[in-house]
Amino acid sequence: MSVLVTGGAGYIGSHVVRLLHQRSESVLVVDGLSSGLRERIGSSAFLQLDLAAPGAEETLVQAMREHGVTSVIHFAAQKQVGVSVQEPEFYYSQNIGGMANLLSAMRKTGVDRFVFSSSAATYGMPDVDSVNEDSACNPINPYGETKLIGEWMTANAARAWGLRAANLRYFNVAGAGWPELADTAVMNLVPIVFAALKAGKSPIVFGDDYPTADGSCIRDYVHVHDLAEAHLSALDYLERDHRSFSTFNVGTGNGSSVFEVLTEIKRVTGIDFDIDIQKRRAGDPPSLCADVTRIEEELGWKAKQGLSEIIESAWSAITAS
Ligand SMILES: NC(=O)c1ccc[n+]([C@@H]2O[C@H](COP(=O)([O-])OP(=O)(O)OC[C@H]3O[C@@H](n4cnc5c(N)ncnc54)[C@H](O)[C@@H]3O)[C@@H](O)[C@H]2O)c1
Repeated sequence: MSVLVTGGAGYIGSHVVRLLHQRSESVLVVDGLSSGLRERIGSSAFLQLDLAAPGAEETLVQAMREHGVTSVIHFAAQKQVGVSVQEPEFYYSQNIGGMANLLSAMRKTGVDRFVFSSSAATYGMPDVDSVNEDSACNPINPYGETKLIGEWMTANAARAWGLRAANLRYFNVAGAGWPELADTAVMNLVPIVFAALKAGKSPIVFGDDYPTADGSCIRDYVHVHDLAEAHLSALDYLERDHRSFSTFNVGTGNGSSVFEVLTEIKRVTGIDFDIDIQKRRAGDPPSLCADVTRIEEELGWKAKQGLSEIIESAWSAITAS
């Protein structure tokens, strides 16, 4: 198998690249390096390319032929929700335009196996605590919309020319499988808290009056190493059956509240810090956890690590750097 990994120099993609190497697969990373780091991908073949740039489709066709690509894992996307609200055109052009070029190149080269990085952001503000893949999708920002449209694109390509695809809806990804592959962006709860502590500030909690046991929001945190393994399970699933097409939640099925995460950070770091409680933010559902029945049954994948391993690995990466 020869796997093209778009966005392989990013946080999650680089974990999957490393697991593919451990399985002795041949890997071609295509990344524009808008946020990725070249040093994350080791000895993988590398093509620096913005998937949304003019001419990208032809460049991809050439590279896929040259490397005998048989499967694609597509991580490359812009992912900042706030920026997507400010600059929706850029988000559509990058995430939808880039993916259209990639799927066209796959069709032209006859590569029909595709794993797509989707997101729990496709669900928006569900009125249930635990969502399954058939729950209604009503994304509430352009970023979430680009992920839902990406899923429609894979479904349409499956109908039109037989694409086999696994859309993976990630929940809250955190931790580090290897210290040097840790998340360098400060956008999710764990990196945000570590950045606040580093700056000598109190981490902010938005809302302590939600209808949850301790009043803070509950989310489903999945360890990035477990998530990376789900991609290998998805590749195996696509390999098994030429009609494979499905969407899978990737989470643990268990939620942790923001206060529970902060308590665990205090335990792991040994730092006792104050918390700055502010008003709720618009668009935060009280609780959002994955129903993981489908991925367990169909892919045989189950998260092995919990909140402690997530915080410990993220903290080790910081102390090692
Ligand atoms: N991190 C999360 O919590 C999370 C949750 C749900 C879904 N996702 C999705 O998972 C994927 C990977 O996320 P990540 O956290 O590793 O992000 P990341 O920013 O670390 O990685 C994205 C990679 O894609 C590259 N890239 C972006 N746009 C590109 C383009 N147009 N052409 C070529 N390369 C491009 C970047 O340089 C980067 O290396 C994204 O699609 C993201 O939307 C992430």
